[in-house]
Amino acid sequence: MRNLIPTPTRALLLASIIALISLALSACPSSSSPTSIPKEQPELEQPLPAGSEAEHPLKQHLSSSAQLILPSDPSYPLLAHRWSSNPLHAPHPPSLIVLPTTPSDISHTIRYANAHNLPFLATTGTHGTTRWLSTLRTGGVLIHMRNMTRFDLSEDGKTAVLGGGLLSGEVVSRLWERGKQTTTGVCQCVSFSGPALGGGHGWLQGRYGLVADQVVSATVVLGSGEVVHVSDSDRGDLFWGVRGAGHNLGVVAEWRVRVHDVEEGRGGSWAYEMFKFEGGRLEEVYELANGMLETQPEYAVHWSAWGLDDEVDPDEPVISVSVFYNGPMEECHEYTRPIRDLGPVAYSSGVTDYPGLSAALGVDFAGVYCQDQRTAYIRAIDVDRYDIAALRNWFDVYSEMLAAEPALAKSVCMLEGYSVQAVQAVPADSTAFPHRHQRLMLSPFTFYDEIGNRTLDDEAARWSKAMGIAAFGTAQRRSYVNYGYGDETLQALYGYEPWRLEKLRGLKRKYDPDNRFRFFAPLEQDGDGGVV
Ligand SMILES: Cc1cc2nc3c(=O)[nH]c(=O)nc-3n(C[C@H](O)[C@H](O)[C@H](O)COP(=O)(O)OP(=O)(O)OC[C@H]3O[C@@H](n4cnc5c(N)ncnc54)[C@H](O)[C@@H]3O)c2cc1C
Ligand SMILES: *[C@@H]1O[C@H](CO)[C@@H](O)[C@H](O)[C@H]1NC(C)=O
Ligand SMILES: *[C@@H]1O[C@H](CO)[C@@H](O)[C@H](O)[C@H]1NC(C)=O
Repeated sequence: MRNLIPTPTRALLLASIIALISLALSACPSSSSPTSIPKEQPELEQPLPAGSEAEHPLKQHLSSSAQLILPSDPSYPLLAHRWSSNPLHAPHPPSLIVLPTTPSDISHTIRYANAHNLPFLATTGTHGTTRWLSTLRTGGVLIHMRNMTRFDLSEDGKTAVLGGGLLSGEVVSRLWERGKQTTTGVCQCVSFSGPALGGGHGWLQGRYGLVADQVVSATVVLGSGEVVHVSDSDRGDLFWGVRGAGHNLGVVAEWRVRVHDVEEGRGGSWAYEMFKFEGGRLEEVYELANGMLETQPEYAVHWSAWGLDDEVDPDEPVISVSVFYNGPMEECHEYTRPIRDLGPVAYSSGVTDYPGLSAALGVDFAGVYCQDQRTAYIRAIDVDRYDIAALRNWFDVYSEMLAAEPALAKSVCMLEGYSVQAVQAVPADSTAFPHRHQRLMLSPFTFYDEIGNRTLDDEAARWSKAMGIAAFGTAQRRSYVNYGYGDETLQALYGYEPWRLEKLRGLKRKYDPDNRFRFFAPLEQDGDGGVV
């Protein structure tokens, strides 16, 4: 089967561009700027002198396998590079990159940064896209986690220690070789840590819970440089916060996570089927999907995506509906019968093993979602069912956008419907992840290649916002922090129950009183950088 997400290749004819743009603008009232994040950050007053790496004062404190990279180093561009590189939502270039290999390397790096009043940020898979990242001004310290790659399966085979720098795909394959699996994000090139810090959604969550729910303990380096261990019985308050609001609290050097035998239950074989429908079928498709939500088994994952697909419809985006099913094809086929009965215009299917799922979806290392993007704006709309009228509005805004602005033709819309049995079995107050009852993640991905064209930036931001507003419909705003755009309220990201924000603010006062961790969906927002 080819990628689920249609690869748009054509430029659309531009009918009544102006009318369509003004329509979209009227959908987002009073939005002169999509976010109140300060746009231009002052550069550091005194960039550090560029001496040699070997003589750098931090070097002597680092372990021999750690690397310290200055901007003059040939490997700097690669290490500073990000999946989506637009400076509107990427951190500004660092004056120093450290690749730690031990928790102590991270600790010394943080102490050094603090002593020199330099902001710092940890990075692993570089897929983060919140606009808050752009508030890391030029000249900071990047703690690049990619060499923290420890992987140790415990003797009893029930847990594994994972270095904070592993990618999801690496965790999947290393566990698989040993007959094990656990929840990770679906995209191979996204880190293990990034999703875990915000909760973490993936194929196996219906069986095992979120990525964060697998965590038994972690080694965390605080904003002071102190290295601490967290678990239920050891700084349980911080452990609670790291699982959902972790970006705000520390650098995770290592995780200990639960792992599960592949052969338990249904084994590691997955069937999948993909159905394509023309846009006009949207109401039927999602009315059926709402019905199927009621009985979605823990081993079935629903995914749909909207995108241009000339082969199916030259005029409008196409709806791809997929079911990934942990079990034999006959069972999958039986389960998907109602979808087939709707009469799709295209159909494909396949059988794979657990590591093969990513390729089936186009999110493997070689797939389109692991290739560099210039700009990707993602929005997070977390809801508990499909609001058909809202989906229709969203689809129409999306179609209008494609028709009006060919530069945005690569944009797609994702509707992720993982199973939730094991997610909802975890008590809602036991972690900082606040959206256990939102079964669906809807996300417009707005992609474009041009950088530095302010007209296009503004237009893309407006369309992205218009799609977000349409997709929410009347639902309460709830946004998965890892897909957040950067203009969400704290309640939308971290939960509406007042105790949640109180508890998180208490953790900030206790564990990060100087607010060093403030560049990813920050809980404490300095100055006028508040969210809308
Ligand atoms: C194509 C694509 C697919 C995705 N698929 C999924 C998915 O299946 N499931 C899911 O849940 N999410 C998914 N996401 C969202 C993903 O969780 C976020 O983009 C996440 O921020 C990516 O983490 P990263 O390490 O790859 O990116 P980075 O940009 O390197 O990190 C993001 C932020 O995480 C923090 N961070 C990273 N590493 C560490 C560390 N070791 N310790 C402390 N802080 C750290 C930093 O604040 C950093 O700014 C996807 C995103 C994209 C773009
Ligand atoms: C660290 O990572 C870099 C780049 O991935 C690699 O070239 C280097 O060998 C790694 N260093 C160690 C000590 O693992
Ligand atoms: C910037 O983008 C807009 C919208 O796509 C386009 O009309 C304009 O020509 C672009 N400007 C430049 C200088 O490329």
